[in-house]
Amino acid sequence: MQISGSLFPFLLFLAFILISGASSAHNKNDFLECLNLQFQKSNSESDSIYTPQNVSYSSVLQSSIRNLRPASNSGQRPFVIITPEHESQIQAAIYCSKKHGIQLKVRSGGHDYEGLSYISETPFVIVDMRNLRSISIDTEKNTAWVQTGATLGELYYTIAEKSKTLAFTAGVCPTVGVGGHFSGGGYGMMSRKHGIAADHIIDAKLIDANGQIHDRESMGEDLFWAIRGGGGTSFGIVVAFKVKLIVIPETVTVFNVTRTLDQNATQIVHRWQYVADKIDENLLLRLFLRSINSSNGKRTIGAFFTSLYLGPVDDLLPIMQEKFPELGLVKEDCTEMPWIESTLFFAGFQGESPDVLLNRTQVSMSYFKGKSDYVKQPIPEYGLESIWKFLNQEDVNRAELQFSPYGGIIDDISESEIPFPHRSGNIFMIHYGVGWSQEENAESRRHINWIRRLYNFMARYVSKSPRAAYFNYRDLDIGMNNIKGNTSYRQASVWGFKYFNNNFRRLVHIKNKVDPTNFFRNEQSVPPVSVW
Ligand code: FDA
Repeated sequence: MQISGSLFPFLLFLAFILISGASSAHNKNDFLECLNLQFQKSNSESDSIYTPQNVSYSSVLQSSIRNLRPASNSGQRPFVIITPEHESQIQAAIYCSKKHGIQLKVRSGGHDYEGLSYISETPFVIVDMRNLRSISIDTEKNTAWVQTGATLGELYYTIAEKSKTLAFTAGVCPTVGVGGHFSGGGYGMMSRKHGIAADHIIDAKLIDANGQIHDRESMGEDLFWAIRGGGGTSFGIVVAFKVKLIVIPETVTVFNVTRTLDQNATQIVHRWQYVADKIDENLLLRLFLRSINSSNGKRTIGAFFTSLYLGPVDDLLPIMQEKFPELGLVKEDCTEMPWIESTLFFAGFQGESPDVLLNRTQVSMSYFKGKSDYVKQPIPEYGLESIWKFLNQEDVNRAELQFSPYGGIIDDISESEIPFPHRSGNIFMIHYGVGWSQEENAESRRHINWIRRLYNFMARYVSKSPRAAYFNYRDLDIGMNNIKGNTSYRQASVWGFKYFNNNFRRLVHIKNKVDPTNFFRNEQSVPPVSVW
């Protein structure tokens, strides 16, 4: 039979698809066979392996997903989810992934903004750490070992069970996972006084690309440096972190004061920028900005000053009176409480039992897009007014800006102490967020365009060369690796210097030493230097 010239390339293409499809199915089967064998060898139960044929597969996959946007864009679902109960099962997953050329993803709390712990463009498996979440507290030495499958809520709850004056400095949302959060930094309401989560890591248990288990001593100081803020995924699977706990007063004070444009919100927000990073470091004045309906039904901007003071209200009021009288804070705005109750207050569970911190699925899923920036010079009032116009372009309460103050101890730590580089010179970090519901998902493009336009507009007011960004507010718009081909250093530099500044070079060097074949990878993993 003669094949016409125009048909030939098409048939060749078809043959390629069929062959690569068959070989990918072949790899998947080989992977599963390998995994079962390895599990048998280590006497492991195979009920921690879920394939799409398993009735629980979908619920296990969905349970920790917080952002539906990435999942709705991606065609690929993992062909296996492994929920290890001990380290040998992680070693088995690494061994079989390597042997059969399958991408492996690790998920702790599933809160990655771009879904990189549970989606992929290529066939992949997930190691989900949910069952490795034990926490042990040493109240004599003020330390804790926490497995990475634990959530922040579980960690806070367990510390408070043991002590009224010990705590940990990390993020606000209780369902965020320790694994991703500590690996990328971990900013929270005590960060001006106590720094970020990664500043307090004193040891770790990590499984490398060869399946070897390390502690701080055996991994060496370079790798130990890299995993404290250099971002999840790139260097291995962290099974547990050992952290230094912080000492706090038995009583802290919280308040949430709102000012609208009629109540001089623009001037107060403007003034806040001269105060927030310099005020007493026991005080963290976080600011949320949204377009809202005012009491007369008209649109206005709500500036929500959501704050924590590490001490009693009578100490707080004179500080506010002296440094930030423009806010007009009065005693009635404030509530004293133990630290653990403050974690409920900031997570929106005020008045509920601390048990709610143990609920791993309490936050409803939504579609959202987030981005971040760092501000080194106050934004002028006319700049703030332009931001209000942007916020008013979206529906009421749909979009939000968070201004998170820096200063305090953050200024005292050197930029290269750990990979998280955002230290002295930053007044505050901006988090931009926009969310929408399932019914509105057809409109997602409009919201994403909105946040990108705002981000472009903000370039004039934020850090430059590099325009810095916070790794834990992952944003693929700022650059990504070509995951299907070689991960190029040149491509990775585009996002790498934004997240890590000059620390990026050291991260690449360490990656080259510990994972030269780039086994642990994703769209924003650190590349080994040899791959250009
Ligand atoms: P997830 O499991 O998705 O992992 C994130 C990344 O780390 C992925 O690349 C994953 O592969 C990798 N990873 C996970 N576990 C690992 C392990 N054991 N070893 C190696 N790599 C691992 N941030 C902040 O600083 N302060 C805050 O207050 C908040 N609040 C907040 C609220 C909400 C609702 C969301 C969705 C997010 C935040 N964040 C935040 C951001 C959060 O810190 C960030 O998304 C973390 O990476 C989430 O960690 P998870 O383990 O939950 O994510």
